[in-house]
Amino acid sequence: MFAERVLSGMRPTGALHLGHYHGVLKNWVRLQAEYPCFFFVADWHALTTHYETPEVIQESVWEMVIDWLAAGVDPNQATLFIQSRVPEHSELFLLLAMGTPLGWLERVPTYKDQIEKLKEKDLQTYGFLGYPLLQAADILIYRALYVPVGEDQVPHVEMTREVARRFNHLYGRELGFEEKALEAVKKLGSKRAKLYLELRNAYQERGEDEALMQAQALLQEAQSLSMGDRERLFGYLEGARKIILVEPQALLTEAARMPGLDGQKMSKSYANTIAIREAPEEVIRLVRTMPTDPARVRRTDPGNPANCPLWQFHQVYSDQTTKDWAQKGCQSASIGCLDCKQPVIDAILREQQPMFERAQQYLDDPSLLRSIIADGSDKARKVAQETMRDVREAMGLDVD
Ligand code: TRP
Ligand code: SF4
Repeated sequence: MFAERVLSGMRPTGALHLGHYHGVLKNWVRLQAEYPCFFFVADWHALTTHYETPEVIQESVWEMVIDWLAAGVDPNQATLFIQSRVPEHSELFLLLAMGTPLGWLERVPTYKDQIEKLKEKDLQTYGFLGYPLLQAADILIYRALYVPVGEDQVPHVEMTREVARRFNHLYGRELGFEEKALEAVKKLGSKRAKLYLELRNAYQERGEDEALMQAQALLQEAQSLSMGDRERLFGYLEGARKIILVEPQALLTEAARMPGLDGQKMSKSYANTIAIREAPEEVIRLVRTMPTDPARVRRTDPGNPANCPLWQFHQVYSDQTTKDWAQKGCQSASIGCLDCKQPVIDAILREQQPMFERAQQYLDDPSLLRSIIADGSDKARKVAQETMRDVREAMGLDVD
């Protein structure tokens, strides 16, 4: 019934790095060919943690979009936009907020984690508590079926499902549905009506599938019903509500764990990153100064790749022959660490080359970028407005 839309967002809080490329963007590029994709800059989400430094967000928005395009995200295939350009997200967020229990938000694992981790920031705010609900609104407003995210975000998608279910339960009834259904029951004749209601109870209260089937057979045979009544009675059997908001599924991005320069996961908070568009001289310097197996004090000391952060880069970038060469050379001290690093440096520079080329046109002419986002935001807004029409109607907010 609904298009198989994919939606994902990213917070603009600094330059993207190779971890984003291998972990997220390559996946987006794959998905854009298969599904209608909506990818957006989550600038409001960034404000939940950077409300004191909005300039960080402002500077990062366009750089981030350039990084997406550089990585091969294609505005002719995917819809790219900025969250704050589609204010409908905030209306849905507000309406969902009315019925969302505080406990749902407080028990999301990222909530306490982040408050702990980002001690230097005061995150005891209303906005930060609401972060996952804003995310739910982002997803539900596009009736997205799939949400590609990393592991840490799965609880947010789970909560989104609960929010959708609750919304449909509360507001998905046809106005006067129950009354109309009960009127239709009467038209079955008293004997059949009684049986119908008994079977319905057996199914709804005790989950007896057999009862559901019997009741459906009973409706099949009932001759005197109009089409409308028949449909109502089928729906009423299952307690059916209209589906207004669609429950999404997380598409778990398999952990393409990109190592950082120090061997930990590549992450801005560890200051161990290589930016997607890092200048080549800088790539060379960063890799050359990477720590290696501490056992290799002198060039003649053999080492063990298992103890070396650079070895993890070989896992990402090197073919088997190169890996064999590095491993043997390390263990026998027949190569030095700088020798060992060279194929990795070459591979990163090779990977970056097409990204620099794609980025250049947008750096030369920023208006291209602006118009991609303007078009994308218009497209997104149309879809969001359609959903909001249904949401307002369901909640009785469509009165003139
Ligand atoms: N919370 C996500 C993150 O930190 C970003 C995000 C915001 C998002 N809204 C979203 C991701 C909707 C997927 C869908 O990575
Ligand atoms: Fe690491 Fe290569 Fe040096 Fe061995 S030779 S310690 S794998 S950089």
